[in-house]
Amino acid sequence: MSFEREKELVGRRAAQLVEDGQVIGVGSGTTVSYFIKYLGQRCRNEGLKILAVPSSYQSYFELIKSGVTLTTLDEYNILDLTIDGADEADEDLNLIKGGGGALTQEKIIATYTKNLIILIDSSKLVKKIGGFPVPVEVLPKAFSPVYKKIELLGGKPEVRMAKRKLGPVITDNGNFILDCKFEELNDPETLNMKIKMLPGVVETGLFIGLADKILVGKGETVIEKIKQRARPDLNR
Ligand code: 5RP
Repeated sequence: MSFEREKELVGRRAAQLVEDGQVIGVGSGTTVSYFIKYLGQRCRNEGLKILAVPSSYQSYFELIKSGVTLTTLDEYNILDLTIDGADEADEDLNLIKGGGGALTQEKIIATYTKNLIILIDSSKLVKKIGGFPVPVEVLPKAFSPVYKKIELLGGKPEVRMAKRKLGPVITDNGNFILDCKFEELNDPETLNMKIKMLPGVVETGLFIGLADKILVGKGETVIEKIKQRARPDLNR
């Protein structure tokens, strides 16, 4: 069974979870692409009426192509549901995201939502997150000092380089990405706060305590990992 097939299975399952009238956040990545595909089918075939807030140019264009109506967080400050992928997830539902460079807008829709569901294939469920380097989005002007500060925090940062353009990857927000490998992520919550506090850092790919549920593709089945937790009151 291929990981690609597992991505498709979770994408299709997630599309079934969307309810008529909902305003949803849509993450980015190849797994989310399957979700968008099946969501579009439901809109066309069942007349499902929903509104979606994309987290990247990728999901923006794919949602348009799929016939899903778009909206913004200016019109709806709190989303009913957000669906996204991840690069790594543990049993506590802590995540590393940002492999596709869309971490900042993804963290926004992951935060201002009543429910965050993450879709992964079985290769991404790990005992402890940290095998995947932590992406950090940085304002270009602050890149050198932030690089040094992350080294002092024990990380080995690398500027993410573009593949078909010279120089660094430029995010949808016009920034650079530092992929930061840490020997061990023993306290990802504290590390997240320390990195976030560095002036010039826009966002980190550490998503701690945000996910409500993870759908893991496993062969021909989908396994659910749930965390019972009190979501912070979005109105306070
Ligand atoms: C993009 C992300 C993606 O959700 C993550 O990289 C997973 O992508 P894929 O589904 O293609 O494996 O965080 O910033």
